[in-house]
Amino acid sequence: MARDILVTSALPYANGSIHLGHLVEYIQTDVWVRFQKLRGNRCIYVCADDAHGTPIMLKARAEGIEPEELIRRVGEEHQRDFADFAIGFDNYHSTHSDENRELAETIYNALDAAGHIAKRTISQAFDPEKQMFLPDRFIRGECPKCGTPEQYGDACEACGATYQPTELKNAVSVLSGATPVERDSEHYFFQLADFEDFLHRWTRSEHLQEAVTRKLDEWFEAGLKDWDISRDAPYFGFKIPGTDDKYFYVWLDAPIGYMASFANLCARRDDLDFDAFWKAGSEAELYHFIGKDIVYFHALFWPAMLEGAGYRTPTAIHAHGFLTVNGEKMSKSRGTFIKARTWLEHLPAEFLRYYFAAKLSGKVEDLDLNLDDFVARINSDLVGKYVNIASRCANFISKRFDGRLADTLDRPALFERFAGAADEIGQHYEQRRFAQAIRQIMALADEANAYVAERAPWQLAKEDGREDELQQICTTALALFAQLTIYLKPVLPDTAERAEAFLNVEPLSWADLATPVSGTIRKFKPLLRRVEQPAIDKMLAASREDLAAKPAPQSEPAQDSTPADTQAAKMPDKNKPDSQVSDADTIDIADFAKVDLRVARIEAADHVEGADKLLRLTLDVGTLGKKQVFAGIKAAYDPAQLEGRLTVMVANLAPRKMRFGVSEGMVLAAGDSPHILSPDAGAAPGDKIK
Ligand code: MSP
Ligand code: ZN
Repeated sequence: MARDILVTSALPYANGSIHLGHLVEYIQTDVWVRFQKLRGNRCIYVCADDAHGTPIMLKARAEGIEPEELIRRVGEEHQRDFADFAIGFDNYHSTHSDENRELAETIYNALDAAGHIAKRTISQAFDPEKQMFLPDRFIRGECPKCGTPEQYGDACEACGATYQPTELKNAVSVLSGATPVERDSEHYFFQLADFEDFLHRWTRSEHLQEAVTRKLDEWFEAGLKDWDISRDAPYFGFKIPGTDDKYFYVWLDAPIGYMASFANLCARRDDLDFDAFWKAGSEAELYHFIGKDIVYFHALFWPAMLEGAGYRTPTAIHAHGFLTVNGEKMSKSRGTFIKARTWLEHLPAEFLRYYFAAKLSGKVEDLDLNLDDFVARINSDLVGKYVNIASRCANFISKRFDGRLADTLDRPALFERFAGAADEIGQHYEQRRFAQAIRQIMALADEANAYVAERAPWQLAKEDGREDELQQICTTALALFAQLTIYLKPVLPDTAERAEAFLNVEPLSWADLATPVSGTIRKFKPLLRRVEQPAIDKMLAASREDLAAKPAPQSEPAQDSTPADTQAAKMPDKNKPDSQVSDADTIDIADFAKVDLRVARIEAADHVEGADKLLRLTLDVGTLGKKQVFAGIKAAYDPAQLEGRLTVMVANLAPRKMRFGVSEGMVLAAGDSPHILSPDAGAAPGDKIK
């Protein structure tokens, strides 16, 4: 019986381009959806841009445009990128839409009426210069536990401590560099703990992957905290009903965007009924594909909101890991921070689809795009195995038999065996074990090639009187090729379309696995080309250029994804600015703050044997202790006259091994024969320069 299935991918933020990391998600969702459709299920795939929040508001301001203008432009760019990667959404909408406003209000009002919303005045960091409250991610300072500089307002990357932004030492606003002040304001909270029993049950019954359930257990143990769902003006979002100056936090209306996109589609399609999919008791299936960084929102807040407002809850959450490239986090300086568009300018979309599919296990594991392996794999699997079957046999049919296929197969048993793999391959697809599906499909491709090699049609073609045999062998090979095309179709929809055109058949579906292709084929044209290394090199170079072309780096976070007031999802968070971005003329205050400049007293200064420019300085840096530094200042000083003087040093420079010993920093000096800088009276060894 055909199933009714509604599928979503997470809604990308409307302030940045789609990159290969995002595509891990959209490609896998699309493969799964295409598989379901191929099987004859009614499967609807919706998505939207996530258009609200502080970063989008600020980005629009920085560009001097209205946020509506920004989100329209980015929304269009996203849709072009997705279309070119063959992501087949049934609908793509925006969270900044009428449908979403209505649904967000309805859900909020229902939760409020049922007593799940509380109001409390809280004190928060406020930027006195920009006149706005600062999300945790917009505050940086020294970790209160370990003192590492440059940490965000919610957690330390060095020691893992979590804390309130007010606990940071020497905190600054990322926006203005000003010192944040504390300010009171009334906030609205969703009382998650009201749903503790429900969530306990829900998260334990088949809806989640094991790794996710384990993570949730930790959160349960820590206790479910109230979720702050309001933000003060200025904010780009929906106003909370009954208030003049409070807005829904972006994460409140973002998942509701799934419903809104579906509602928007229903308005255009008579065969779809919103309530049938969304009301409590719905028989339809609902799946959310998401990255591991946003599990908290989808596996706790979202089901609780739905339950509390009388809607159905998700059938399952499908979480995936993060993308690495060549074994490392995507990096702008290495050129591995690759945008969807940059890929498309150099390589076919389907090659990425295939590679990701070949590596996706259905688990919450990170996925590595190893570019050498990528080249080898595409050339060997797709060109060397799959396409090769058709290219070795097609011409005999075209030239010798006018394109006509034989009525009988040379090896029906082989065809049957290929058809018989459908259950297992289908199970792998269904369970999102795409890697295993691909492995099995490629094993079949190997068998098909072995069959062609064994029957060697090119030999028969030279012999007289073996016409029928030749036609049957080539027909068998093409029938196997058609079966492989069906198996690969969820992953390679465009190639499948070209293969169907060549085979001269209607769009193939899963049911066609059981029937050999027949009739007359068209002339064979190469379906796929090999990948060559220069294309990869050019793409990496273009990704680096792309970065260089950018204006001053944005040190703002892409989005404040961390729910305030909860020690939330401390899973890897890509919603941080890439600290590798530094190729620009100007730096911001945060970059400057990375350099730990200290006052130092020169305790001893000595000549260094064999060095004609260097002096060895022993520096007293107060609480940081003693440091040895080699300084190129010999030309200007007699060592004795330096002893006891104060100067300035870079204290957090990585130690450097020199011929004469280790240098543990750098003193600041200026001029051709460098003279050291000295602080004014009143400064003491160890004082931080700010
Ligand atoms: N706007 C939120 C989602 C709201 S859903 C109601 C968001 N947007 S995002 O643009 O940052 O990410 C969109 C999806 O892409 C998320 O599921 C995220 O996990 C995924 N990925 C973003 N970068 C990724 C990698 N580098 N690797 C794998 N997936 C990544 O979060
Ligand atoms: Zn720390």
